[in-house]
Amino acid sequence: LQERAILDINSAQFTDDLEKARVKYLGKKGELTEVLRGMGSLSAEERPLVGKVANEVREEIEAHLEKAKTLIKAKEMNKKLETESIDVTMPGKDIVLGKRHPLTQGMDELKDIFISMGFKVAEGPEVETVYYNFDALNAAPNHPSRDMTDTFYINDDVILRPQTSPVQVRYMEKTKPPIRIISPGRCFRNDTPDATHSPMFHQLEGLVVDKGITLADLKGTLEVFVKKFLGEHTQIKFRPHFFPFTEPSAEVDATCFKCGGSGCGFCKKSGWIELLGAGMVHPNVLRNCGIDPEVYSGFAFGMGVDRLVMLKYGIDDIRLLYENDMRFLNQF
Ligand code: PHE
Repeated sequence: LQERAILDINSAQFTDDLEKARVKYLGKKGELTEVLRGMGSLSAEERPLVGKVANEVREEIEAHLEKAKTLIKAKEMNKKLETESIDVTMPGKDIVLGKRHPLTQGMDELKDIFISMGFKVAEGPEVETVYYNFDALNAAPNHPSRDMTDTFYINDDVILRPQTSPVQVRYMEKTKPPIRIISPGRCFRNDTPDATHSPMFHQLEGLVVDKGITLADLKGTLEVFVKKFLGEHTQIKFRPHFFPFTEPSAEVDATCFKCGGSGCGFCKKSGWIELLGAGMVHPNVLRNCGIDPEVYSGFAFGMGVDRLVMLKYGIDDIRLLYENDMRFLNQF
């Protein structure tokens, strides 16, 4: 019996086979159990002898079972490791990570720069009134930007704002100087879309009003901004211009950050790129907001965020910013 049991145990391939062998010999109806059960019919002299042998056989079988179990477990584990091993040279699965839109990135960077200079962020409505966008901003009744061909009219008094400048008025009406705000946001103009025009675009407005604010403050502020945004070596120059709400007014150019000002294809050989509009807040605008221009003065500036983002990232068509093509967006 012992020999057969050991043979069965040693030929077992799986833990299942071992269990079968255990039941066959040691189970309730197992062969060894039968032997022990049959001991009642033995004589008093035979009983202890058979009992002793039977116990030895049980111990022997149990020891073999234990040993075989350890071996088979190890074998099964090895097999698992072999067949379920991971090929670390296989290409991985792409993890799709969301990113901020290049415009949002640009906007955030612009905001961070001005916030670091002590500006607060103020926002105004995209659907604006003619009063805040034109009248209060000192635009002459016949100013061309009032024309329907330039501005989207909801009705005679209500428009989609074509600039962020009306936020200046809204803020000055409510807040007395000192004022130091930026106002980022969406603007709309009745333009046919092309590489440089989009009927919806973004501006960032700046406004500083206090006692004794001069053109030098405007220049200094813009210089710090431009160096942070376009690079330490960037220089700026003011070109005289006209805006109804500033006097004097200027357009501000920066040295081309591609060629450093020597002239390249990017800046059309001029060495300069147009950056923003700016000027000293017109006394009429201050007066319209209840601020005494004899006491206070201020400067304002407004920049096209789309344009700046395009310059910085070398994007040559504004429409790319609004098409949401993943092949484009994934590059930023
Ligand atoms: N609002 C002007 C524009 O849209 C920019 C500007 C803002 C100019 C503030 C001067 C002062 O072109």
